[in-house]
Amino acid sequence: MDVNQSEKFPRPFLLERYFAEHEFTAPHMLCASDCESLPMAQLVSMMKPDTRELWDNLALGYTESQGHPKLRHAVAEMYEHDAITPEKVQILAPAEGIYVALRSLLKAGDRVVCTWPGYQSLSEVALAQGAHVDRWEVEEGDAGFYFDVDKLEQLLQSGPCRGVIVNFPHNPTGALPSHDQWERIIRLVSQHDAFLFSDEMYRGLEYDSGDCLASACTVYKQAISLSGMSKVYGMPGLRIGWLVSQNTDMLGSCAAYRDYCTICASAPAEVLSLAGLENSAKLLAQSKARVLKTIEAIEEMLSHPEASAHFTFHRPKAGPISLIGLRGKQCGKAYCKRLVEQSGVLLLPSHLLEWKEHYMRIGFGRDSGPAVVRRWYEAVKGGLVPE
Ligand SMILES: Cc1ncc(COP(=O)(O)O)c(C=O)c1O
Repeated sequence: MDVNQSEKFPRPFLLERYFAEHEFTAPHMLCASDCESLPMAQLVSMMKPDTRELWDNLALGYTESQGHPKLRHAVAEMYEHDAITPEKVQILAPAEGIYVALRSLLKAGDRVVCTWPGYQSLSEVALAQGAHVDRWEVEEGDAGFYFDVDKLEQLLQSGPCRGVIVNFPHNPTGALPSHDQWERIIRLVSQHDAFLFSDEMYRGLEYDSGDCLASACTVYKQAISLSGMSKVYGMPGLRIGWLVSQNTDMLGSCAAYRDYCTICASAPAEVLSLAGLENSAKLLAQSKARVLKTIEAIEEMLSHPEASAHFTFHRPKAGPISLIGLRGKQCGKAYCKRLVEQSGVLLLPSHLLEWKEHYMRIGFGRDSGPAVVRRWYEAVKGGLVPE
């Protein structure tokens, strides 16, 4: 279906509705995109003395709408680029960042190109603005999922384009361009004088850190990068993320919309985020270790013909999620339903991504990952296979 043809936007957020039904009831979550959360007491115990003082003396009033200066400073430092100063950082909730950016950057009749499939709001908010969304679709090769940059070039050449929306490492496949491909993507976007909205929520979770791409905000002046505490740091409950751009006009127009949303961030969440960033190397290493353990469990399961006869999987290069394919190309919906009902294991069927239907999203970032994969394998051995 061409999503541009729908009668009413925004349409229901399919993935959020699925999670609303299952996230807190399915006994064995295996499709979460966030990594394991740290207990708050542990995070507080890891605070540097200055941050601990801030925490102990924190008043629960409104906070600065651009974000706490110390947090913006810590965020800006992470980008290791002279042009990224605390003034170029806007703190907000990650999903809110997508909303305010696309609301402020787009108007009816604009055309944007967006990686596909993806986190629905990346395209849906654009559609709700009356923009036309052209899909840059992921492809599956022998080595896994990838985006063909020639196809982006063709899409950009096919007419005026206001902006390009990308998400690398990619939700849901884990696809990640090479450094050369990323440079070419930036070059193409800049040649067309388009904005680049770069959702980098999973950046930092490259299994080989040499694969980590330069953040878009450091290499292109018309780029806005989105990141936050939710995924790779395992702190989605903080609801803290940030937009970063060298273009303060673009950032300012996002902030104007933000005044009509949450206005400012939660005071305790900002200090806890600061503590998270102070310990980022340790937290990222822990997340990566969890991810790799779950991936190894999946590979172990698929080394057995009882499982490999039914499912396909490519180890991605980054991120806490990817897709498992159903070899017989059955729709994943019925299988996911039977799986959660009969074994309690929750996977996410790809029809909810409005893309091909014979995949299921799997998450690697939880401590329970390997045990849940083994539980799934037991169910498969017991005959719970796609029909
Ligand atoms: C690619 C991507 N961007 C943004 C978000 C929103 O993050 P949050 O739920 O923390 O607001 C998500 C959440 O799943 C995501 O996958």
